[in-house]
Amino acid sequence: MDFKDKIALVTGGTSGIGKKIAEELLKQGSKVIINYGHDDIQAQKTKQELDNYKNNIVLIKADLSNLEEVKLMFEEVKNKYGKLDYLVNNAGTNVDSYIENFNIEDWNKVLNVNLTGKFLCTKYAIPLLKKSKSAAIVNIASRLGTRPCKEASAYCVAESGIINFTKCSALELSEQGIRVNTVSPGLTITPLSLNGWTEKEIEETKNSNPLKRLGETIDIANAVLFLLSDDASYITGQNINVNRGGLL
Ligand SMILES: NC(=O)c1ccc[n+]([C@@H]2O[C@H](COP(=O)([O-])OP(=O)(O)OC[C@H]3O[C@@H](n4cnc5c(N)ncnc54)[C@H](OP(=O)(O)O)[C@@H]3O)[C@@H](O)[C@H]2O)c1
Repeated sequence: MDFKDKIALVTGGTSGIGKKIAEELLKQGSKVIINYGHDDIQAQKTKQELDNYKNNIVLIKADLSNLEEVKLMFEEVKNKYGKLDYLVNNAGTNVDSYIENFNIEDWNKVLNVNLTGKFLCTKYAIPLLKKSKSAAIVNIASRLGTRPCKEASAYCVAESGIINFTKCSALELSEQGIRVNTVSPGLTITPLSLNGWTEKEIEETKNSNPLKRLGETIDIANAVLFLLSDDASYITGQNINVNRGGLL
């Protein structure tokens, strides 16, 4: 896999899964634009942690639910690099609520960040990706994109949408040499994912699937880097579940 001097944009790259994807690309010699939406302190902390690669990192703050901020982000990428090789549409959020109590603002927030944000980034990345000889997009969805879950209807709907948006994108963009795939993580240990979980719930979750452990961010990053690489040049429109063998 040759990632040297490739230009990658990782949305939501300051925490959890996105941060590990950014780190793995940097280790392989890529230049990585790390996007985030709100938390400047966490963004600076991430940049310091990745200090070895600081010359290859550009941090861009842009709330992906805001059209103008997305446009400005891509202007900045265009001015700095003139092209993109990889887009990793990773940023996501969630609001837990039963449908009866879901307020429209929270519903819209989840849909806007998790789904519409991926559409906007894809739309504005296309002119830059067209300039690459090995362009690829990976959209991060979730195991909940293919199974229902109580108290998370907006999240489940957004994640399902991502999987089909990937297929539509793959169809439209294949003629332009851009591959598009989805990676759907199962429960993965990140700063926020296990917030509020009891030991009992964690043990039950570990034991509920064949591989009997929780996902690490590196498990997801490995799948993403494979799909971005030329080793996956015959794969597009697919959804790869990285979920400890979870079959439900
Ligand atoms: N962890 C899991 O168990 C799991 C399982 C399945 C799927 N996923 C998916 O994997 C992705 C990453 O999850 P994670 O657990 O690594 O999350 P995380 O640790 O909470 O990180 C989320 C990242 O997204 C950014 N972000 C959030 N809202 C944004 C917005 N409006 N605009 C731009 N950036 C925004 C955050 O930056 P700011 O806070 O600065 O905005 C942060 O960098 C998400 O799409 C999630 O749905 C995670």
